[in-house]
Amino acid sequence: MAELRLQDGARLTELARITEYLSPLGIALHCWDLPDDKRARVLLAAQALAGPEQDELLGFVEHRFAALRAEHGYEARDLIVLHEDLPGLGEALAKFAAVHYHDDDEVRYVLAGAGYFGFIGHDGQQMLLKVTAGDYINVPARTEHWFVMGDSPRIKAVRYFSDKAGWVPVYTHTPIALV
Ligand SMILES: [Fe+2]
Repeated sequence: MAELRLQDGARLTELARITEYLSPLGIALHCWDLPDDKRARVLLAAQALAGPEQDELLGFVEHRFAALRAEHGYEARDLIVLHEDLPGLGEALAKFAAVHYHDDDEVRYVLAGAGYFGFIGHDGQQMLLKVTAGDYINVPARTEHWFVMGDSPRIKAVRYFSDKAGWVPVYTHTPIALV
């Protein structure tokens, strides 16, 4: 379940309350069921997944891709699997830890683990959203945000794309007040 921390220290855990803060920015957040198949649970619990295992796990949530493609026109999807022993993890994460936006929506369906998205409200107040297994988030194109793993050692998430070329980060150099 997602949790939103505001700049004044308040922590919100109710989905309805969290969306009150995210909706004005056009950000969608849903809590979806996870695959309950025994094999899927094994894959979700693994630290790392080989290519065929990633494809296998994606197969368990292919109905989500079909629905998102029909509704939003997303053309591609892949699985990211980040964990504490992944070579180059620090460099990879550093690209997204500074405030940026993309020309394509940033769409994630978290299947396991956790991560944190930072956002900036229209009043300038910053907020940090913890996303965990089952959370689906759609950050619209050109919305300022950042992403960190924080205290989470692992995350598995499906990424959905309209066009991978539109997903290059454009940095805005806005200072981050929340860590
Ligand atoms: Fe991003």
